[in-house]
Order: sequence, then structure tokens, then C-alpha cells
Amino acid sequence: MRIRTFDEYQTAYQKSVEDPESFWAEIAQEFQWTKPWTKTLQWNFNEPNIKWFVGGKLNITENCLDRHLATQGDEPAIIWEPNDPNEAGVTLTYRMLHDQVCRFANVLKRNGVVKGDRVCIYMPMVPELAIAVLACARIGAIHSVVFGGFSAQSIADRINDAQCKLIITSDGAYRGNKEIPMKNTVDDALIGCPSVKRVIVLTRTRTPVSMLKGRDVWWEQELKQVTADCPAEVMDAEDMLFILYTSGSTGKPKGVVHTCGGYMVYAAYTFQNVFQYEKDGPTGRQVFFCTADIGWITGHSYIVYGPLACGGTSLIFEGVPTYPDAGRFWDIVDKHKVNTLYTAPTAIRSLMGFGLDKVENHDLSSLQVLGSVGEPINEEAWHWYDDHIGKNNCPIVDTWWQTETGGILISPLAGITKTKPSYATLPLPGVQPILVDENGVEIEGNGVSGNLCMKFPWPGILRTTYGDHERCRQTYFATYPGLYFTGDGCMRDEDGYYRITGRVDDVLNVSGHRIGTAEVENAINMHTGVVESAVVGYPHDIKGQGIYAYIIAEQFPEGHDADLTKRDILATVTRVIGPIAKPDKIQFVTGLPKTRSGKIMRRILRKIAEGETSNMGDTSTLLDPAVVEDIMKGAL
Ligand code: PRX
Repeated sequence: MRIRTFDEYQTAYQKSVEDPESFWAEIAQEFQWTKPWTKTLQWNFNEPNIKWFVGGKLNITENCLDRHLATQGDEPAIIWEPNDPNEAGVTLTYRMLHDQVCRFANVLKRNGVVKGDRVCIYMPMVPELAIAVLACARIGAIHSVVFGGFSAQSIADRINDAQCKLIITSDGAYRGNKEIPMKNTVDDALIGCPSVKRVIVLTRTRTPVSMLKGRDVWWEQELKQVTADCPAEVMDAEDMLFILYTSGSTGKPKGVVHTCGGYMVYAAYTFQNVFQYEKDGPTGRQVFFCTADIGWITGHSYIVYGPLACGGTSLIFEGVPTYPDAGRFWDIVDKHKVNTLYTAPTAIRSLMGFGLDKVENHDLSSLQVLGSVGEPINEEAWHWYDDHIGKNNCPIVDTWWQTETGGILISPLAGITKTKPSYATLPLPGVQPILVDENGVEIEGNGVSGNLCMKFPWPGILRTTYGDHERCRQTYFATYPGLYFTGDGCMRDEDGYYRITGRVDDVLNVSGHRIGTAEVENAINMHTGVVESAVVGYPHDIKGQGIYAYIIAEQFPEGHDADLTKRDILATVTRVIGPIAKPDKIQFVTGLPKTRSGKIMRRILRKIAEGETSNMGDTSTLLDPAVVEDIMKGAL
């Protein structure tokens, strides 16, 4: 499964295209299966219907835990670095992690969870979050992790969509110098969630919380009631492993579904090859530090499942990059002798702003590979990362992928693929990208741009969107029949290297977080006195994209009143979605540029948000072109 040279990459790539089934079968054989599969792949992109390792049986936790016990039971699986650098951290060996996962799996069973049940997890970045995830997988429960920054309303929407039976949370969370009331937020969410019968609460902050009799139980108390003996549930390769909600261009977030077999194989294969992870390398066991939250796909695939399936050591960090100061990442690298750092361009850009003092007083010589994920990395950030963190001695892997893809699709292989700043470079073996024009016609050759699609499935591709297969078809497989559409624009340069240019739909990428404009508009429109709103993205120095909202209010607010109303609107958005969706700029307007059929011309709003003051292009189809002048006059 391991590629070591560029020649080997090319050979693997060719084989993966010519004979994908035997290519993936060979890789999948390296894992532990209770029963082998009978057919490696069945697929069509029309329904869509995609099945990998058909008839195969396995449990992903046996592959992530049990399989490693004999050879490396005493090696570290998880290293946990708490928010406060003065608090003692935790190292869990494979044996300890196995023990804790089995115990907590028994707690879930004791609380009525059975195979196929959905379990919501809303927790801080503590080892128990990984334990909760793996415990669900152990007994065949489907986990739905909700990022700890989402609001009660967002939790409720996700719980209701998946009809979760149980939620796991903590009393509170530490993030930087803040203490966040997790259980309180869950209590608010549960007012509207009749499917939830149990809440398991981990103690983290000792914040006083209300505990409802018959519904709420303490993690620690429950653990006292169980043993560490929990055989792994035998799962079909195509049984659901998890649901993870993500934003699209319309409506509410959808529950992307990944299944046990294909996801496992793909997360592990990409982890191993992209980062060239070594557990028994010449310099010893490598420490892999992915700074994402487990609440996002990056954390699922490259904090939990990928590293553990490969028997690696994964570092979990509870806090934020700027606490207690902006040197925290470098402090962690130094302290734990981190070999691979995998982070987002937003973090790099924000840390750049604090100057080199914060970097230079740390020993970063353990670093061997640097990764970037979540949004396009601009050249300035790429070079800063390369010069000051990697000391021009660590390959940078700019990894392009999505919640829906389960794992990395386009990326250099560390130290193997020649990199180019801000290019995700080449597709991984098994990945067949294609650029198409608006009409779905393939754009061939090099030195071209188009909409990025995939023409063949890879094992980690989403199978459906929970409870609504038609939505999955419509969103990803209907725009260009026969292709999976990513929603991203892309260019392929003269060398055949891919550079992702950003979303071509109404999805924003703010600080690497994916947010639908429609979602933010819906939240703004819930505010009293708001008649209508339109949200677009604009270039933001640190966040990549900022959120610009144009709002029509029943009464046009002026002066101080406008400031207060803006603050109230931000509070509403925070309440409905969470702080990550708060607009950076709000402009009150008296009208929006609409076509005669009532469609908002976002192109114009985007230009104004970008600071353009003339040259709005063709506005002749607008119902009232004068609106544009007015908006430009008030632009922020
Ligand atoms: O627009 C692309 C951008 O992030 C989107 C996927 O977001 P999400 O599902 O939240 O997953 C993020 C982590 C995998 C993509 O459609 N994106 C992700 N990685 C890159 C990127 N854009 C440019 N370069 C990347 N390396």
C-alpha cells in the first residue's frame, strides 16, 4: 500500500485507472476482515448507487485497535494536549485506548443503544471524544459528531434529521480563556428533540449543570457499571459508519453518509501515502498533529480513523492556536516532537500576523512534513509556512478534498511529488478528475480551467445524504450526468497540475469552514424587522473569505440605531447557527438587484462586496437597475 517514489506513484496511478478493482482489492486485503468481499466494486453515478467490497464484513475498530495490540499495544495511539499548557496531558497507548473504547461501548449498550441507532456527539477536543466515536463504531451505532461551536438550534436540526436516540456531551469546554457551557446548549437543543432518550455527560469543567432524572447520566458513573469486554459488532462493508452534516448552496445542511469498508480503506491509504507516515521510521515513531476539530471531516479521517487504522500516533489538541499566546502550535511541536503538522491556511495567515518572535523561540527541528487543508492556500502563506516553519526542509502537502470525499483526492505525496505553491498538484491513485464547462463538456488538455468533477468512484466517496437520497443525486450527480460534481472551480496548468480556485456555487469558505449563503440568509431573515437579505463572500486577508450581508429592514436604521440593529442581527445568527456564521459586514439597503423573474443577481453583489465601484457588467435584465447605484453608494 505504500508508495515510495514518483515512479511508484505513476505505476500505481496507471494501475488504479486500468484495473481499479484489483488495485483496491490488493490494498483492502491488508486490513482485517471477518469475511472477505465477493465483489470489489458495483457502481453507477445515475441513481447513484456505489458499493465497495460488496459482502465483506468487518469492524473498523478491530482494524484501528485490536489489530495493533499484539505488536504495539504499549505504543501511544493518542497524545492529548489540554487547552491549558500547565494542565497535565494524557497519553493513551493502544491497549489503554482499546480498553476505554470497549468500556464506553458497553456504557452505550447499557443505555439502550443498538446497531444502526444514531448517536449525536457534541464534545470538546478531549480524548473522550475519540473514545465516544470509536465506541459507537464498536457496536455498530452511527455517530453524528456536531462541531462544538454550533448553536442549540443547529444541534437540534441535526438530531432531528438523523433521529438520534442518545447524545454524548460534556458539562463544559475550555477554549482559550473561555469556558463554554456545552451541556446547557444541549439542554436548549433537546427541548425540540423527542427522539433523544439519554444524555451522557462527561465531566470536564465542573460547571454546574442540570441533570434530568431518567434522561441524563454521568460518563464517569456509568463507566463504573461496565466491564472492558466488548466484542466488536460484525458490520457489512456498506453499513453506515457515520453521518456528518455539511452545508450546501440550498436549504439546511445535509447529512453526508460514509460506510464502514470503503471509508476505512480510503482514510488509511491516503493517510499513509500523502503524509508518508512512518511508525517505525529511522527516527522512531512519528507523531502526527492535525489541528482540525474532530467535528469536521478532517478530524474524522486524519485525527481518528486514518492514523489509528495505520497504527500511528495522533495528537489531539483541545485549545486554540493563540492561547496562551500565538506560539502555542510551535510550543506543542517542540514539546511533543511533532513530525507532521496538518493545519489550515487561515491558521497560518493568522499566526503570520504575530511575527516571527513567536516561532523562533521554539525548536521545530522534529518537523518532517507540513500539510494544508480546507481552503486555497495563497502563495504568501505557503512561503511563510515553508520558510519559517518547515525551514525549507519539509515538503508541504496542499491536500484538496471534501466532507463528501471521505479522504484526500488531490495532493502531493510528501517528499515524492514535486510541489508548487498553492497547487494541490496531482490526483491520488484511484482518483480520476475531469474539468468540464458549463454544459458538462470535457475540457481537455493542459493550461485550462473548468468545473471540477470526478468520473470514477473511489472507496471513500459518500454513499447518500441521510434520509434523502434524491437530494444526494440532485446535489452531486445531476448537474453533469455521469459525473460527481465537486462544486469547485479548478485550473490544470501546463504540467497537468491542479489548482483549486474555490467554490463555483453559493457555498462560502470562511476560515476553512464551509457555510451556505442560504443558511446565513435564513438566519438573518429570522431577525425581527428584517424583510429580506442576500449574503455573498468577499476576499478576507485572514479568513480567506468574509461574509458580506445586504439587508432590507422594515425601517431603514440610521446612525447609532443601525449599529445596534447590526449587533442584534449578529446575535440572532449566533443563536440560529453559531458564531462561525456571523457576517463580517452588514449593509442596510432599500432594494436588492433582482431580475424580472425575481432572482437576485449575486454577481453584482459580489463585485460590490469586493470593492468594485464601476463596471458591474450587464445590468439590463434587472427589474430596477437604479438599485445598483444605491447599493454602491452605501458600500462598506
Ligand atoms: O472548496 C473546497 C475547499 O473546501 C471545500 C470542502 O469543504 P469541507 O467539506 O468542509 O471539507 C474541508 C476539509 C477537507 C472544497 O469543496 N477546500 C478543501 N481543501 C482545499 C480546498 N480548497 C483549496 N485547496 C484545498 N487544499
